Amino acid sequence: MGLFTKDIKTMDDLFIHQLQDIYYAEQQLVKALPKMAEKASDPQLKQGFLTHLDETKGHVQRLEQVFQMHGAKAKAVDCPAIDGIIQEANETAGEVADKTVLDAALINAAQAAEHYEIVRYGSLVAWAKRLGRNDCAAILQKTLDEEKATDGKLTQLAESRINLRAAS
Ligand SMILES: [Fe+2]
Ligand SMILES: [Fe+2]
Repeated sequence: MGLFTKDIKTMDDLFIHQLQDIYYAEQQLVKALPKMAEKASDPQLKQGFLTHLDETKGHVQRLEQVFQMHGAKAKAVDCPAIDGIIQEANETAGEVADKTVLDAALINAAQAAEHYEIVRYGSLVAWAKRLGRNDCAAILQKTLDEEKATDGKLTQLAESRINLRAAS
């Protein structure tokens, strides 16, 4: 179902569609993060991916909770955007031989995923409030905060060590 098909008529339809989209994205990230952790050389980056894997499993559960609270069935719809980000990450990683350069590429790919999530959750929080669902908004906000914190940690890692070593 495309974003602007006639199936989406109301804000409520849009809210549920985007929940389904991010539900799919989170599930794909649960599969992708262990592989990224495996490829990472820097111990802090490796641990960071594993920590965010645990958080991401929680994001899936929170979405199921929001679906239930909103009286909608928890269902995933294909999200070509996240598929593209993950596919590109795999392709780039496959081309990088140097471990430090690979870490820099992994951080970049992970940040692309986090930014995608931040955009989606930002809108979902706003739309939940608009629909009078402050209870759903509060749950989605918790995930949004974790995505932002992860993005911040990745920036720190990139700026502190990995990018410097890759450039030397
Ligand atoms: Fe997430
Ligand atoms: Fe995330």
